Amino acid sequence: MRIVYDIHVRLERVTSDQYFESDPSVASDPIVVDVTLPDVAFTMETDRGVFSRGHLDTATSMLLRADLPIAAEGNLLDLGCGAGPIALTMALRSPAATVWAVDVNARARGLCARNAARNGVGNIVVADPGDVPADVRFATIWSNPPIRIGKEALHELLLHWLGHLAPDGTAALVVQKHLGADSLQRWLGEQRFPADRLGSKAGYRLIGVASHPTDPRR
Ligand SMILES: C[S@@+](CC[C@H](N)C(=O)[O-])C[C@H]1O[C@@H](n2cnc3c(N)ncnc32)[C@H](O)[C@@H]1O
Repeated sequence: MRIVYDIHVRLERVTSDQYFESDPSVASDPIVVDVTLPDVAFTMETDRGVFSRGHLDTATSMLLRADLPIAAEGNLLDLGCGAGPIALTMALRSPAATVWAVDVNARARGLCARNAARNGVGNIVVADPGDVPADVRFATIWSNPPIRIGKEALHELLLHWLGHLAPDGTAALVVQKHLGADSLQRWLGEQRFPADRLGSKAGYRLIGVASHPTDPRR
């Protein structure tokens, strides 16, 4: 019994570790999930090799249920879109906006695009991060960021995309406390991104970030 359990845990780890690969080699095996939030609902195809197969991630759910302000128009960003639950929610809540859904994982981008189509959502642009024009500025950025890529890569990623916030834009990041949410918030402050805790629940922190007052890239 003990051995079976250990094997199960190891297989889970192997599959979940592949979620941020650019081109997952694991065989596709889709599962469709119904997502119901207080104000919007959609169905979402998920798959192996992509984060959170078969369910809406707990941290993502916290972000989407937090009643965060969101710009009604302009460009919005879901950084690390996976199958697209954040992008879909943003697009449904702000139908006059354009939601950029970026991910390094090609299978995730394919799922996100199909999920937009299957729900009749026409205001999502799914893109490889490198294909987003450098002059696009985001009024709202939401992300369940890829903490597991490592601190240095995560910092570089956040500096890049938060540097593309519009002057009065805001970002919200959901991060597990035990994966360094509080030190990430402090680090953002040290980079002169005003950051504060918007919420805390069941080991997760919701971090609010405002645009850099003097960022030369704006
Ligand atoms: C924690 S998952 C969140 C996925 C999805 N937003 C959700 O809530 O279910 C983080 C995502 O970031 C993606 N990712 C990893 N490195 C990235 C990078 N450098 N640029 C953009 N996305 C990246 C991963 O492939 C993964 O899909």
